[in-house]
Amino acid sequence: MGRTLLLPLCLLICTPAYWALLCFQCKSSGPCQVEECAPGQDLCRITVMHVWEEDELEVVERGCAHAEKTNRTMSYRVGPQIISLTETVCGSNMCNRPRPGRARTFAMGRYLECISCTSSDLSCERGREQSLQCRHPREQCLEVVTHSSLEENEMEEHHTRGCGFLPGCPGPTGFHSNHSFHYLRCCNSTKCNSGPVIELQHLPPNGVQCYSCEGNGTHGCSSSESSLVSCRGPMDRCLQATGVKGPGNMNFTVRGCATASWCQDSHMADTFSLTHLSVSCCKGTGCNNPASNVQYRSGGTSQSGPDALSLVSTLLVIIRLWGGVLLWI
Ligand SMILES: *[C@@H]1O[C@H](CO)[C@@H](O)[C@H](O)[C@H]1NC(C)=O
Ligand SMILES: *[C@@H]1O[C@H](CO)[C@@H](O)[C@H](O)[C@H]1NC(C)=O
Ligand SMILES: *[C@@H]1O[C@H](CO)[C@@H](O)[C@H](O)[C@H]1NC(C)=O
Ligand SMILES: *[C@@H]1O[C@H](CO)[C@@H](O)[C@H](O)[C@H]1NC(C)=O
Ligand SMILES: *[C@@H]1O[C@H](CO)[C@@H](O)[C@H](O)[C@H]1NC(C)=O
Repeated sequence: MGRTLLLPLCLLICTPAYWALLCFQCKSSGPCQVEECAPGQDLCRITVMHVWEEDELEVVERGCAHAEKTNRTMSYRVGPQIISLTETVCGSNMCNRPRPGRARTFAMGRYLECISCTSSDLSCERGREQSLQCRHPREQCLEVVTHSSLEENEMEEHHTRGCGFLPGCPGPTGFHSNHSFHYLRCCNSTKCNSGPVIELQHLPPNGVQCYSCEGNGTHGCSSSESSLVSCRGPMDRCLQATGVKGPGNMNFTVRGCATASWCQDSHMADTFSLTHLSVSCCKGTGCNNPASNVQYRSGGTSQSGPDALSLVSTLLVIIRLWGGVLLWI
């Protein structure tokens, strides 16, 4: 790769603005290679999915990550299995190097006890909650909702409860538009994440209305496609975010209602897989009016997920929440 070979030279003569990080890229099965990260991808990541049942399965992925990524963990039960996801990031060249022979040590501590359920086996919806012992000292009990009607073939609403250490805790932090609802709430006493699952329509309107859309300036987020929606629950700020999405570096715009705590780059980057973000929030009905903005173009809708009830789709949703780029397809 020409650009890779030029890098040592570039390190000497280019300004820091042109500096691109090198990370190992490894898919779950297959060889690793060193790649130059795209602009805006300023960290290397190691993402580990660990499935416990009678046997253990561990899947490790390596790659680049957007600059807002932070270390995070999450675990929850699916039927008899415990799924545990861990992601660590680092910021120097090739710092996510595979270490052959070094077995990853899965945390075995016993800390907070939480409620766990997931929409992928309908245990949240049916109230078949189990308890789960957190294995990392920093983990709290979580409730995560991630729902997008723009994803074809996706489940209509996705709930997960379990243990985790995620950016945004303790929350509540959330965002909703006319098409999606993303919500995170954490707490740190025994089984504190119990009770009925959170549904957007059960949160009371808070009196604010914001423009809502997701897409580009011609498909999804043109002025005529941005309509006012009634904001609910703690999501009483109007958000507008623009960024770049996908391999084609397509422009993408999102508008909707958000909590004040959601109004930072990292949540939008994680949830919508955007880089080069510009996120702003304002107070007051209609203050994220698209007419007051330069027109934004381009951007694709996300790829559709597989069968709603499969494990893979659970992971897709969670990993999308984490800002992964469709790792498991
Ligand atoms: C993230 O995790 C890695 C590996 O455990 C650790 O070296 C690093 O210090 C952590 N970073 C932060 C900000 O906690
Ligand atoms: C929200 O979307 C639904 C369909 O998903 C549509 O029927 C409704 O008119 C939309 N509401 C607004 C305010 O755009
Ligand atoms: C538990 O959560 C409360 C409220 O979110 C916070 O004030 C407190 O510091 C947390 N305690 C621990 C041990 O994390
Ligand atoms: C906007 O998105 C649509 C669908 O994703 C795409 O077909 C179109 O080319 C995009 N428009 C621009 C100006 O890029
Ligand atoms: C995205 O928007 C920027 C700024 O408006 C523009 O310069 C760029 O050409 C756009 N990219 C695409 C692929 O449309």
